[in-house]
Amino acid sequence: MFNIIICKNYEEVSAEAFKVLKEVVVKNETPVLGLATGSSPIGLYKNIQADHKKGYSYSKCITFNLDEYIGIDKNHEQSYWTFMHENLFNHLDVKEENINIPDGNSDDPEQACLDYEEKLNKYEVDLQVLGIGSNGHIGFNEPGTAFDSKTQIVELDEQTRKDNARFFDSIDDVPTHSITMGIESITRAKKIVVIATGENKADAVYGMIKGPVTTDLPASILQRHDNVVVILDNDAASKL
Ligand code: GLP
Repeated sequence: MFNIIICKNYEEVSAEAFKVLKEVVVKNETPVLGLATGSSPIGLYKNIQADHKKGYSYSKCITFNLDEYIGIDKNHEQSYWTFMHENLFNHLDVKEENINIPDGNSDDPEQACLDYEEKLNKYEVDLQVLGIGSNGHIGFNEPGTAFDSKTQIVELDEQTRKDNARFFDSIDDVPTHSITMGIESITRAKKIVVIATGENKADAVYGMIKGPVTTDLPASILQRHDNVVVILDNDAASKL
């Protein structure tokens, strides 16, 4: 079931997303948060930073990130490890041992997936933050991914590599593979907040909410989840 909130700009989108997150954080003794990378949640993360600056402690939070590139060092400027530290963790009091990000540098990535899924299974994610790819992907689960998938290695779509090329010197530098929580791992979360802005997300947003539930558009599986908040700007909502 979707609760859809349409906002006039990104600032409002981020403030709404923060409200959802803060409510979950306040309500739980040890909040377990599923976190995402990409441009969409940056404003949310700024709000969290500001809240911490004002004195609120996030030290009880346990976090699990959705995904990580394979084949670039975790200290690479475009790794999701770096992204999360720069945009959030370096500015908060979350304990480093409570931060979980898939290990894209492991000598044995298959084992890294199993280890991540096993750890994730020990917790119940209270809130999963999600962006959506322009092709409807969630995490890095590209079209065609099975709905019962667990943490896994995936090959990135050409479209996804093009979308993400803006962060690299050239498209050739964009990794070809990543580790991502599977669709099943993501949808186990008790509550999910999807953030999407901009016209290039309008088709994916339409498919997620109004299209058929199909692996061709991974986010459409969220129609079967009972607690999803979707926060959009007018452009992303324009096809609804
Ligand atoms: C990336 C990430 C996703 C993210 C999506 C949208 O490839 N793997 O987790 O939600 O694409 O990114 P953005 O928010 O920058 O549009």
